[in-house]
Amino acid sequence: MKKIEIKIPGNEYPVYIGANAFDSLDKIIRSKKLFRNLFIIIDKNVLALHRQDITRFTSNFSGKVFVHEFNACEQEKNFVSLQNIFNDMIIKEFSRDTIVIAVGGGITGDLAGFSAATFMRGVLFVQVATTLLAAVDSSVGGKTGINFNETKNVIGSIHQPNFVLIDTEFLKTLTEEEIICGIGEILKYAFLTDQKFFISLKNNFAKLLKLDATFTSKVIETCISFKGDVVKNDEKENGLRKILNFGHTFAHAIEVEQNHNIKHGQAVALGLMCALDLSKRIGLLDEKLFTEFIKLPLLLKDKILIKKFDAERIYEIMKRDKKNQDHQIKFVLLSDIGDLVVDVEVGKDEVIQSILQGMNHFIYS
Ligand SMILES: NC(=O)c1ccc[n+]([C@@H]2O[C@H](COP(=O)([O-])OP(=O)(O)OC[C@H]3O[C@@H](n4cnc5c(N)ncnc54)[C@H](O)[C@@H]3O)[C@@H](O)[C@H]2O)c1
Repeated sequence: MKKIEIKIPGNEYPVYIGANAFDSLDKIIRSKKLFRNLFIIIDKNVLALHRQDITRFTSNFSGKVFVHEFNACEQEKNFVSLQNIFNDMIIKEFSRDTIVIAVGGGITGDLAGFSAATFMRGVLFVQVATTLLAAVDSSVGGKTGINFNETKNVIGSIHQPNFVLIDTEFLKTLTEEEIICGIGEILKYAFLTDQKFFISLKNNFAKLLKLDATFTSKVIETCISFKGDVVKNDEKENGLRKILNFGHTFAHAIEVEQNHNIKHGQAVALGLMCALDLSKRIGLLDEKLFTEFIKLPLLLKDKILIKKFDAERIYEIMKRDKKNQDHQIKFVLLSDIGDLVVDVEVGKDEVIQSILQGMNHFIYS
């Protein structure tokens, strides 16, 4: 089992990655002396697919355990689901000596993390990431939250986990659609890290699609290590951490405009196309590099298809993005791989053109 340390000052924690890593969950909890009561918030689908592993763990655990099932979808990442969690916590008499364990993807992790951050002013939290997207991104960094009134992740807090566990065996039950979602977020890291990772992803794309064990583990380690370094330097997103939002201003608005009929990771791939186009359009990214760069998200061209979209509405939704200041949309754009510029303001016409240009590649008729 591989271990990566996330070294946030005052908040260091390990990420364990490996085949059958879940079998070590009990041992890790004991070795870290986290002798608490466990409140497990689990994605219903994950429970159905991996019931044997989960039951083995819960029935062998020596302390109090309660399993709260959650229907993981974007529409349910909301106050009602949070209230259901708090209801169970209170009815089952959980108190401050609780560890909330999220078992699922980014939706479960965000919701469970926010409940851990707010229940009795904050209890311990563990993430067991079961999707590729959660493994490469959302399980690390401490962002937790829920959606509210058509705005994504607008209520939330930063609450770091005590540790993260990624069992690569769990990833084997993911559908191709969910693998694509994870790849959407991985492609973001191709633009944030370095040329070597970009080329490696391009050359080994088929391996990633098939979740080749060796290559996928390497990719997870690269993304998590990179994110860990960024968050270590700017946990509260005052500066550097903003680069992790590359493509996301577009993506969040696309998700809402499409009524969540497109998933987060898929929207990120589209958002990257729009952000690359906008970077070129305002003269930050040269034409030659642009042509080279878009080849990577375009590898998903036939895997993410949308019927139609309304660029004006996407723009209007972006105006509600939580990263905006003084009603101005703040973009993360790039001039080269690893060379990001944050807080860029751009005129409406150029933004609309980038949405049209970036998303038209994915329209089917
Ligand atoms: N906190 C952060 O830093 C951060 C970063 C990126 C994204 N996010 C959030 O993450 C969410 C998206 O996460 P996601 O793509 O993991 O979505 P998700 O949690 O909904 O999981 C996607 C689907 O996969 C299923 N699933 C989960 N694990 C499975 C498994 N092992 N086998 C088979 N099916 C499985 C789920 O039931 C669900 O239907 C969004 O809400 C986004 O806002 C958060």
